[in-house]
Amino acid sequence: MMGYLPMTTALIVAHCLAITPELMLSAPQRSEAVPNPAGTIAYFTVSQYSFDNQSSSRAYKLLDLESGDVTDWALNSVEVTDVVWLPGTKTGILYINGTNVDTTGGVSIWVGDAMNLPASTLVASLNAPFSGLKVASTSSGDIHFLVNSLAYSNGTAYNPKLGPIPRHSGRLYSDTYPRHWDTWLSKQRYAVFAGTLCANSSYNLSDLGMQNLLQGINFTATRPESPVPPFGGSNNYDISPDGEMIAFVSKATHLSKANFTASYIYLGPFDGSSAPVAFNGPNTTANDAGHEGASGAPTFSPNSSKLAYIQQDGIYYESDRWKLYTLDVNLEDKMVVTSNWKGLASNWDRSPDGIGWAPHGESIFVSAEDFARERIFNIPLNASDSFTPRNLTGDTSVSAFSVLPDSSLLVSASAVWTSREYYTTTGNGEPRVLFSALDVDAELDGVGPDTFDEFLFAGSEGGQLHALIVKPSDFVANKTYPLAYIIHGGPQGAHENSWSTAFNPQVWADQGYVVVAPNPTGSFGYGQNLTDAIQGNWGSYPYEDLVLCWEYIDSHIPYIDTKHGIAAGPSYGGYMMNWMQGHDLGRKFKALVTHDGISNILAQYGTDELWFVRHDNNGSLWENREKYDRWNPLNHVRNWSTPHFVVHNSLDYRISESEGLALFNILQGMGVPSRFLNFPDESHGLLNPENMLFWYTEIFNWINYWSGVGGPLDDVAIGA
Ligand SMILES: *[C@@H]1O[C@H](CO)[C@@H](O)[C@H](O)[C@H]1NC(C)=O
Ligand SMILES: *[C@@H]1O[C@H](CO)[C@@H](O)[C@H](O)[C@H]1NC(C)=O
Ligand SMILES: *[C@@H]1O[C@H](CO)[C@@H](O)[C@H](O)[C@H]1NC(C)=O
Ligand SMILES: *[C@@H]1O[C@H](CO)[C@@H](O)[C@H](O)[C@H]1NC(C)=O
Ligand SMILES: *[C@@H]1O[C@H](CO)[C@@H](O)[C@H](O)[C@H]1NC(C)=O
Ligand SMILES: *[C@@H]1O[C@H](CO)[C@@H](O)[C@H](O)[C@H]1NC(C)=O
Ligand SMILES: *[C@@H]1O[C@H](CO)[C@@H](O)[C@H](O)[C@H]1NC(C)=O
Ligand SMILES: *[C@@H]1O[C@H](CO)[C@@H](O)[C@H](O)[C@H]1NC(C)=O
Ligand SMILES: *[C@@H]1O[C@H](CO)[C@@H](O)[C@H](O)[C@H]1NC(C)=O
Ligand SMILES: *[C@@H]1O[C@H](CO)[C@@H](O)[C@H](O)[C@H]1NC(C)=O
Ligand SMILES: *[C@@H]1O[C@H](CO)[C@@H](O)[C@H](O)[C@H]1NC(C)=O
Ligand SMILES: *[C@@H]1O[C@H](CO)[C@@H](O)[C@H](O)[C@H]1NC(C)=O
Repeated sequence: MMGYLPMTTALIVAHCLAITPELMLSAPQRSEAVPNPAGTIAYFTVSQYSFDNQSSSRAYKLLDLESGDVTDWALNSVEVTDVVWLPGTKTGILYINGTNVDTTGGVSIWVGDAMNLPASTLVASLNAPFSGLKVASTSSGDIHFLVNSLAYSNGTAYNPKLGPIPRHSGRLYSDTYPRHWDTWLSKQRYAVFAGTLCANSSYNLSDLGMQNLLQGINFTATRPESPVPPFGGSNNYDISPDGEMIAFVSKATHLSKANFTASYIYLGPFDGSSAPVAFNGPNTTANDAGHEGASGAPTFSPNSSKLAYIQQDGIYYESDRWKLYTLDVNLEDKMVVTSNWKGLASNWDRSPDGIGWAPHGESIFVSAEDFARERIFNIPLNASDSFTPRNLTGDTSVSAFSVLPDSSLLVSASAVWTSREYYTTTGNGEPRVLFSALDVDAELDGVGPDTFDEFLFAGSEGGQLHALIVKPSDFVANKTYPLAYIIHGGPQGAHENSWSTAFNPQVWADQGYVVVAPNPTGSFGYGQNLTDAIQGNWGSYPYEDLVLCWEYIDSHIPYIDTKHGIAAGPSYGGYMMNWMQGHDLGRKFKALVTHDGISNILAQYGTDELWFVRHDNNGSLWENREKYDRWNPLNHVRNWSTPHFVVHNSLDYRISESEGLALFNILQGMGVPSRFLNFPDESHGLLNPENMLFWYTEIFNWINYWSGVGGPLDDVAIGA
């Protein structure tokens, strides 16, 4: 409080801002907690941006799983990019040091003990920027590890610092997919590499050096690649605990990469003595049974006798239901022999995404989106198709989990009201919270679970739909607050009770709004039918759901002022803003905000992942032009009249910046109040905290002006 204000001026700044964009963006961000093999301690990293220093810091911490004590871990966080615990030891570690004194742009591998870091020793000098360490201790005492890197087509790992300097900047393509996410494709592809640290020479790297495990795989249309960019990491591959076998995911090599999502699980011997084989690729029993889509999360069982993985059925539907499978694996004559693949809980109407084996391999823990939370479930190995798993976690959302030796789980979670919580749970009784960011981060002062609520409303197809509410931190029930209606992207996706830096709902609410975040048709976590129903219906069911949700709010929630509301959304949420702008719902808001949204569906063939456009519009543009045209926001341009803030970034290769420019130019041409914000160095989402702060500041300046919760428009924008 800055002192006493007379009532008249108090109207302008009527509430305290518990969490501002600056506080949220400068709060510490903590990684998942990774436990040691004995389950006694875990490490995590904490990263923090300082607006004062204009720099980020990063540090390693240790979490005692008995006491919950967090201590500094002196591992050098500037040098060390990846750490794994060594199986079979108490506190042994293997880590990647991002500096290499022999090779510019290379890295080095070190072996050490978490409790005696100065005694760490250099065991391998690698000539490219490898990352994504996975490790196994073998019966001989040797350590087997996997890492990944971009590689030349001849198999050699690619070191950009040593590559030749090109004479021109031209890029020439002969196939679709010239660019993906934020990157123009080059000739290099990701590959998984294997290395052996020999017990008989102080764990020095064996003379074989690093072996590219993807060499020797034949292909007709698409070169084998693992991890699969842009989001694949070390979760795309695994090493068996006995160190003898490897598994990785690569896209279907006989299909066009831009047209299909299909990918397979390749299995092979760790020593590379035979080329890995896609056990669920074309002409296999699994594929013939209809499991033809994307594969993921290959995870060997504790005794190396089985592999668990997930797969979708549809070959070009990225949001098809994921199902859990197990497979028997065995190394015979330098080949991985597979048998007896089987689906577990195959009819369960959820999509498992993360996998963790129980300590003795008797069951599998999975995480899956469920009613606006990511939750953990347990599935026994003998589960029938009709088995319905029970959720072991509740109200917050799981970011990652590990299974401890006593079968309990170490969970890294978040919620709308906390950036990080670490807890252990058995799934029965209350979880044991070891750490909560709310207790220690001054930036989160005043934030808490009391502002969070949720409700159900009747959707356009009759079923009950779900929406989340986030109130301002200083909420009082006898006041009203303008609605901030936030629509998620995907469109297959979900608003969930989790922490986020983009569209952080508490930050929006603390400007003086009540945020409502609905999960309309197309959303995840309520069964596959709701997700599937958006195909070919982008402008109908979801739009009608949003109208019904708005009407529900208007008639049932007295503290929400729908007359001064604003609406905002990224990606498909931005498409929905543009669609609403041309329809009646757009007239219910004082301002709209589109972040990297589609304005002209006919231009969507400029996107990267062509399978998506084709699936969601029931065919290609030339096969089904009518469907595309039917839901095109530009067809309703004559109705556009609500003040509109447009963001579009230059490195967004999913939805090109021309979409945002066209939207802005039309709004300006029609005399609709509007602003255009561009970040030349950002992609579909923002990464740079300074950019994020400018994004929040200017969007809030705009919506607060039009909704009436703020003062006049600033003069920061570049005009004539
Ligand atoms: C900013 O820099 C100062 C001096 O280097 C340092 O002491 C301080 O911890 C930094 N603050 C943050 C939040 O990083
Ligand atoms: C990383 O490597 C550099 C160069 O060899 C070395 O000086 C430094 O001590 C190493 N750091 C760690 C944490 O191993
Ligand atoms: C693979 O190609 C790269 C780039 O042309 C080259 O530097 C490297 O020596 C080649 N590796 C082998 C094993 O031929
Ligand atoms: C050391 O171990 C490696 C890997 O197990 C093996 O190839 C090599 O022959 C061994 N060398 C000696 C001297 O025993
Ligand atoms: C391990 O490799 C280093 C060089 O990288 C070498 O100096 C050292 O002698 C090797 N140790 C053994 C036991 O072979
Ligand atoms: C790849 O093709 C070559 C040439 O046809 C063949 O010799 C080789 O066995 C094939 N490799 C695999 C793993 O199928
Ligand atoms: C699958 O088998 C059929 C019949 O043998 C063959 O024509 C086809 O090329 C095979 N497909 C692939 C992708 O290997
Ligand atoms: C390995 O674990 C599986 C359960 O995952 C069990 O069925 C099997 O008997 C075990 N094999 C051995 C050799 O212990
Ligand atoms: C499972 O989810 C329900 C809500 O659907 C919740 O009430 C329950 O507490 C959760 N179970 C556990 C163990 O957290
Ligand atoms: C509104 O509620 C607060 C407590 O929540 C109370 O202090 C205040 O007097 C109430 N105002 C009116 C106008 O009822
Ligand atoms: C999903 O839709 C299908 C076909 O319309 C229907 O048979 C099935 O019962 C629905 N499933 C659920 C879980 O509602
Ligand atoms: C990609 O899919 C389209 C249909 O959407 C088809 O016309 C085209 O031939 C396909 N291209 C390849 C290389 O499969």
